[in-house]
Amino acid sequence: MAQDMASTKPSDRPHTAHDPTDPHSEIVPVLDCGGQTMQLIARRLREAGIYSMIQRSDISAAELRAMNPKGIVLSGGPASVFEEGSPRIDPEILNLGVPVLGICYGMQLVCQHLGASITPADHREFGRANLEIRDDSDLFGAVPQRTTVWMSHGDQVTDLASANIETIASTPTCPQAGVRYSENGVRFYGVQFHPEVTHTPHGSDIIRNFAYNICGCTGTWHMAEFAENEIERIRERVGSDRVICGLSGGVDSSVVAALLHKAIGDQLTCVFVDNGLLRKNERQLVEKTFRDHFKVDLRVMDATEQFHADLAGITDPQEKRRRIGHRFVEVFKEAAESIQGAKFLAQGTLYPDVIESGHGHSGKSANIKLHHNVGGLPEDLGFELIEPVRELFKDEVRKLGEVLGVPDAILWRHPFPGPGLAVRVLGEVKPEKLEVIRECDEIVLEEIIAADLYRQTSQVFAVLLPVQSVGVMGDGRTYENVVAVRAVETRDFMTADWARIPFDVLARISNRIINEVRGVNRVVYDISSKPPATIEWE
Ligand code: XMP
Repeated sequence: MAQDMASTKPSDRPHTAHDPTDPHSEIVPVLDCGGQTMQLIARRLREAGIYSMIQRSDISAAELRAMNPKGIVLSGGPASVFEEGSPRIDPEILNLGVPVLGICYGMQLVCQHLGASITPADHREFGRANLEIRDDSDLFGAVPQRTTVWMSHGDQVTDLASANIETIASTPTCPQAGVRYSENGVRFYGVQFHPEVTHTPHGSDIIRNFAYNICGCTGTWHMAEFAENEIERIRERVGSDRVICGLSGGVDSSVVAALLHKAIGDQLTCVFVDNGLLRKNERQLVEKTFRDHFKVDLRVMDATEQFHADLAGITDPQEKRRRIGHRFVEVFKEAAESIQGAKFLAQGTLYPDVIESGHGHSGKSANIKLHHNVGGLPEDLGFELIEPVRELFKDEVRKLGEVLGVPDAILWRHPFPGPGLAVRVLGEVKPEKLEVIRECDEIVLEEIIAADLYRQTSQVFAVLLPVQSVGVMGDGRTYENVVAVRAVETRDFMTADWARIPFDVLARISNRIINEVRGVNRVVYDISSKPPATIEWE
């Protein structure tokens, strides 16, 4: 038998609410062995109607038993089982009487424990592989006998002979690509590939099979239950204290504010900072939605003058972001100090924010832009953090928002960067330039909405270039500003393609900007993808 599996790997993932005493609730937790895609496993389970969240890999079997899970998934991870300090699990987890699925590293860890050999590979195998299914009675039920899967591994399981583990799928380079073990009450399944990623076309079916065919789930979970659980959990945690929520008007912080308001009513105060870098009517929309519709205690901090003063004379994009971020914290602090007895700060941090800001497991993502947003408040503000959507993806947050009755005008908004129009006025930011770009932005959005393209595009906006060009208007020469229109399509904002907006829509946008906005005589359309460009110009 292999080494003890119970050494620890620190991780501070919060426990998400679930009521184990509810006989109808079905939960399949995912144990985090450090894989980049482990959140996708939880997401696939939730999509299949099964409640799932991430737990530390070193969680004890007793703690897991208390959750009354229907099954357990062990994620992949970058480490090798041979490495000292690599993630381990409590081996008693296998004896909880519920099926366990190990993915990649998770599979190797358990197979090693069961007595199989793990062989370090000379090279990593990365990319698509052809899987041949040998047994489709449970995990691979209704999956075509030959299918594509996504591999990303160094080591692999080799000798199963002495371990009574069966092979249920193989690829040409990985004979043990799918395995099953069923003895002495232990029911274990392992896959060397990653069923959670979209590059494995039948991956969702495999995860669903594990939950339904093997764990016996029936799919009782839906977003309304998440909302109910979170509301209950927030109430318990907050008690009679107050919570401050930084509201940006974007989807994430708005949904969090709505959730908190449902949970604790007037113990919630929302703070909206008007930094003078907002889109047209932005502040009014937030006031209307939260003050009038939700009846939230909303404090609007008008700090336009301070932000504009901070930006005077500054042209470097990183310095602009730094100053905006810094001032934002100052204004927020001031607002927070005026709210008596607040113990908690609620933020709309999403799972992708956790990865993008380098707080994911690898911590190695390059810092392309100094991101600033409401989720970027420093931890030394002295509050305890409440981040109820930290484990969700954007589309899941939208579903939650729907359940909570957040209006579509907010739920389906394109993202807007924390530093606002300051990164869309290239070079020095001046109030008169902000006025120009605000008008252009409004026209672009109006036309995109009128052409019914808003939901088909991911982000659309205008950028004021620090360039003047010669034009002719009436009979006279003009020498005025150039505005770039940017429209992108993307799923995750990490990569993006420029949107193929019909020429007649672009023509209307261009005509209206040149005719209606003083100081602009030329409009160009940005046809760069990300990478190599980024979505914003600064
Ligand atoms: P980039 O320009 O990096 O943008 O391709 C990716 C997405 O992030 C948004 N963005 C920001 N959001 N604070 C934010 O909250 C920021 O500092 C920031 N910079 C860029 C951008 O609008 C796009 O949606």
